[in-house]
Amino acid sequence: LDEIDLYHYGTFPEGFHWGVSSSAYQVEGGWNADGKGPSVWDTFTQKPGNIPNNDNGDVACDSYNKIDADLYMLRALKVKTYRFSLSWSRIFPNGYKSSHNQKGVDYYDRLIDGLIANNIAPMVTLYHWDLPQALQDISGWDNLEMINIFNEYCDFCYATFGDRVKFWITFNEPQTIAWSGYGLGQIPPNVKQPRDAPYRVAHNLLKAHAQVYHTYDEKYRASQGGLVSISLNAEWAEPLDINVPREVVAADRALQFQLGWFAHPIFKNGDYPDAMKWQVGNKSELQGLPNSRLPSFTDEDKAFIQGTADVFCINTYTTKVVRHVTSRLNIESYETDQDVEKDNADGSENTAVNEQKAVAWGLRRLLNWLKEEYGDPEIYITENGVATGTAITVDDTDRIFFLKTYVDEALKAHNLDGVRVKGYIASSLMDSFEWLKGNTIGYGLHYVNFKLSTTTRSLRISIVSKH
Ligand SMILES: *[C@@H]1O[C@H](CO)[C@@H](O)[C@H](O)[C@H]1NC(C)=O
Repeated sequence: LDEIDLYHYGTFPEGFHWGVSSSAYQVEGGWNADGKGPSVWDTFTQKPGNIPNNDNGDVACDSYNKIDADLYMLRALKVKTYRFSLSWSRIFPNGYKSSHNQKGVDYYDRLIDGLIANNIAPMVTLYHWDLPQALQDISGWDNLEMINIFNEYCDFCYATFGDRVKFWITFNEPQTIAWSGYGLGQIPPNVKQPRDAPYRVAHNLLKAHAQVYHTYDEKYRASQGGLVSISLNAEWAEPLDINVPREVVAADRALQFQLGWFAHPIFKNGDYPDAMKWQVGNKSELQGLPNSRLPSFTDEDKAFIQGTADVFCINTYTTKVVRHVTSRLNIESYETDQDVEKDNADGSENTAVNEQKAVAWGLRRLLNWLKEEYGDPEIYITENGVATGTAITVDDTDRIFFLKTYVDEALKAHNLDGVRVKGYIASSLMDSFEWLKGNTIGYGLHYVNFKLSTTTRSLRISIVSKH
């Protein structure tokens, strides 16, 4: 019997951080309530035709008006941690501190106080994609000035909420921001410049992350004693054939381009992975360009970025099988720079999202790779979960199977391989506005009926069966 099929019986130690997640745009609604400014997601989803059924986050789960209902669900789950994000334009409607909106601050104060009163630790994401529209109007993350503007916002959040918030996540999935937002142009700001904008944007995101890490270090760590990290996304990349060196190297390269792009500078030496520098450098040269499309860091930058995360936070949903391909040189893109092709793993289970097959064994391998590659860091799984379609209301047996098998692979990594897995945050607390898929799918441990005029939440079987 293949060991990947075996169920491992055991438990995580006392103090393991079980939690659930959400993000501001996906749950809050109140898109223009009490002085909130618009974000790029408001602008994008309010344009007809951009999202299935013209769904948007104007109301979403109405969490802006339903703190008590949200707390009730969290208590029912008995979680220790709630991961949520702050809407920047609710706090600073135009992105700048001068536009400070006290009613927005009050909302987060009430939510955080409610969590603390229930012994639930807030894990707060400072930036979960909903950039104030006014900052996109000055080119968003493609503008170096954003580093200072983001720092001013984060500094304010540490000063205002840091007496109670002890776990900060600067960015959620910077790779998705850079590639889907500025390369593919799929998510806001919908910039389609795959040849170099993602590299420029990632460069700025890394500097912005490092800056706000240092701000916490210098001004708040001594008095507040919290942690700062960044949630990076990765799909485990399984080589097509582990006996063919070229395929093994290709799979590693795929991980370096997706995860190492950010993790290598932060957790290793302040610089991009060699695989990226060489691939993009060689291709740029052959393309006749004067410089690599991948920007380079000065020694000062490297020293500034290296070591700017206290723990490793990973979002992961699926696994891909990767093989080497030789991409055509006349296509200049972050995607073709990689010389890889990704497919679904054989025999993997379907979910409601085509690109997210359920492949639990990939999680154990990914966690082991993180341990080896980044020097045995403490690891928090800050997102993992499975989508179901609208036909599934509360009877979500697929989700039971998914969570049981994925959590078991994390447990194997912890108990059998010695990976320092410290927490598991399930995606998500409740069905939410799911970005480009609108309300056609949900990841919730609670079912939300978005068709009713006031959103209702219902426990799913995947929760009930746990107790
Ligand atoms: C091309 O790749 C090789 C390794 O394969 C590396 O040594 C060299 O520096 C790269 N050239 C550029 C311009 O990046």
